[in-house]
Amino acid sequence: MNYARITGTGGYLPEKVLSNKELETMVDTSDQWIRERTGIEERHIAAEGETTCDLAEQAARRALQAAGRETGEVDLIIVATTTPDRVFPSTACLLQQRLDIHGCAAFDIQAVCTGFVYALGVAEKFIRSGSVRCALVIGAETLSRIVDWTDRSTCVLFGDGAGAVLLEASDEPGILSTHLHADGSYESLLTVPAGISQGYDKVRQGEAFMQMKGNEVFKMAVNTLGRIVDETLAANDLDKSDIDWLVPHQANIRIINATARKLKMTTERVVITVDRHGNTSAASVPLALDTAVRDGRIQRGETVLMEAFGGGFTWGSVLLKY
Ligand code: COA
Repeated sequence: MNYARITGTGGYLPEKVLSNKELETMVDTSDQWIRERTGIEERHIAAEGETTCDLAEQAARRALQAAGRETGEVDLIIVATTTPDRVFPSTACLLQQRLDIHGCAAFDIQAVCTGFVYALGVAEKFIRSGSVRCALVIGAETLSRIVDWTDRSTCVLFGDGAGAVLLEASDEPGILSTHLHADGSYESLLTVPAGISQGYDKVRQGEAFMQMKGNEVFKMAVNTLGRIVDETLAANDLDKSDIDWLVPHQANIRIINATARKLKMTTERVVITVDRHGNTSAASVPLALDTAVRDGRIQRGETVLMEAFGGGFTWGSVLLKY
């Protein structure tokens, strides 16, 4: 049992769809600008009262079902989220209760848009060390709650959703390598400048919103993701042509295309959901993976490269045999 392998995927999107046309009625923007600058056409928005844990539960149940596993077989739960239901307990503990699982470790990871990649990296190490056999790893977000709906430079970009995988100990290759990084010196370029011990009044008053220097984030994302692709290939002694699928973080089609060009990959080998999901932060990579697994594009044994970049800055990649 040397490997950690994905045995099931699941995804969930809230019912409400918010189109670019609707956004035109909310802020000074246009469908054309959003499509051309970001590739986004629509995004899903959680209903009032619908929480990150609600979305996570649906995605988790679907991943368990796809793997043919029962909740009782799970012995680790990690939820990557920037938008937890509460200060505490963690969303992972709330989810554990929903799934009627008792006793196993359950915790949240906060690495913003790189959260799922971080969570998968951590879960893989638990499995490889032999202390866990079956981990539920989820990225779930209700980003709509921290978006300033009067700020056209951010509100058109984000959406809500959840994606999950079941990661199990296996004799067959699964995850080949994970690469996790952060550089906190860029904290001011992408932030919600409020929280528990700093500016909690803003949280109470519902004014804790995302702020972003989009252009600078864009350039950093393109350069950093280019570097992590090189790092991942070198660590595995692989060539660009060995990668069957790129499953990138879905922030902006122009960032995705830059990474695909770097890998010399045609768009047919790149999983793109940003047009329909927008940027769902920690949920974006597992949602994209689930989409391409369920529609039959990603097949068992194929080599998949996942990458993400987000606030912190954080960035990372996972190379795996599906
Ligand atoms: N609708 C219409 N115009 C808009 C707009 C909107 N929703 N948002 C910004 N603009 C305007 C700006 O005000 C600016 O106008 P000006 O030239 O008159 O000042 C113009 O469009 C260009 O703005 P700029 O920010 O330079 O555009 P851009 O090409 O960099 O695209 C982003 C903006 C946000 C789409 C792009 O920078 C981006 O995707 N950044 C990275 C975002 C990201 O990935 N964040 C999460 C990381 S995980």
